[in-house]
Amino acid sequence: MVQASAPGKVILLGEHAVVYGRPAIAVPVSQVRATATVEPLPPGSGLTLVALDLGRTARLGEAPLDDPLAAAAYHTLAHLDLAGLDGLVTVRSTIPIAGGMGSGAAVAAAIVRALVAFVGAELSPAEISSLVLEVEKLHHGTPSGIDNTVVVYEQPVYFLRQQPPQTFAVGAPLSLLIADSGIPSSTRQVVGGVRQRWQADPAHYEALFDQIGGLVEQARQAIEAGLVAALGALMDRNHALLQEMGVSTPELDGLVQAARQAGACGAKLSGAGGGGSVVALVQPERAAAVQAALEAVAARVIPTTVV
Ligand code: PMV
Repeated sequence: MVQASAPGKVILLGEHAVVYGRPAIAVPVSQVRATATVEPLPPGSGLTLVALDLGRTARLGEAPLDDPLAAAAYHTLAHLDLAGLDGLVTVRSTIPIAGGMGSGAAVAAAIVRALVAFVGAELSPAEISSLVLEVEKLHHGTPSGIDNTVVVYEQPVYFLRQQPPQTFAVGAPLSLLIADSGIPSSTRQVVGGVRQRWQADPAHYEALFDQIGGLVEQARQAIEAGLVAALGALMDRNHALLQEMGVSTPELDGLVQAARQAGACGAKLSGAGGGGSVVALVQPERAAAVQAALEAVAARVIPTTVV
């Protein structure tokens, strides 16, 4: 039996604009993970995938091609030039589902890695990331590629569409609190809504994306220089632009407000919006107070530190 895993992720700045060629910054959240195991089955059994936390099962060859579980296996076997495989893939995940934390990408990455290990092959992170991107297209329609990149490389990344990810130094540890609103978010739907509004008013949306891109550049410098307060202010401004883009909700705004009132350096929605999570940046001495304030309103709070 083999086992492989991949972490959750949080986008610090730049979601949505990244789909339109602007940069974004994302970090892995290693405390929450998707794990896949593969056990051998007798010849002729075929490949069955069971996702325990999703309550779903897919059999390769029977599941539709757009089933994300089966698609992760299809793309992996095709890439490895394998006609079929006998085995049972079991997937578990502690990453909130539809919570803006990259659960789909992490589940796919864990499946790809486990199958690759099961057949004794080796793939580079770039190859694994591009297989996961194929699965992401089923979740998202037009994914930028940031989710698959950050969960596969498991490092903070500065990401530009269709370019190799850039890693960068973190000047001072970043204490983050990720609060899940508990309201599921459909990335495909929210990204589709932004596209419609962009088509209706391209000048306004391009200007919003440019402003977000500018914040991301400043944020990278702030992170490298260890300027935590400055980074928090940039996150706050990014949230305001996401509100203007129409992807925030009263619940997400409420979580952001709760974090700020309890002393966070900055807070914003993270991921597609429309539900899902917010991310708050805190000084370590304020972490407990901000966590308590978020726990009073959030479905779940996940603390993480980026070093
Ligand atoms: O909701 P999530 O965590 O899948 O994040 C989506 C990020 C977007 O920028 C909105 C879409 C994308 O493909 O980058």
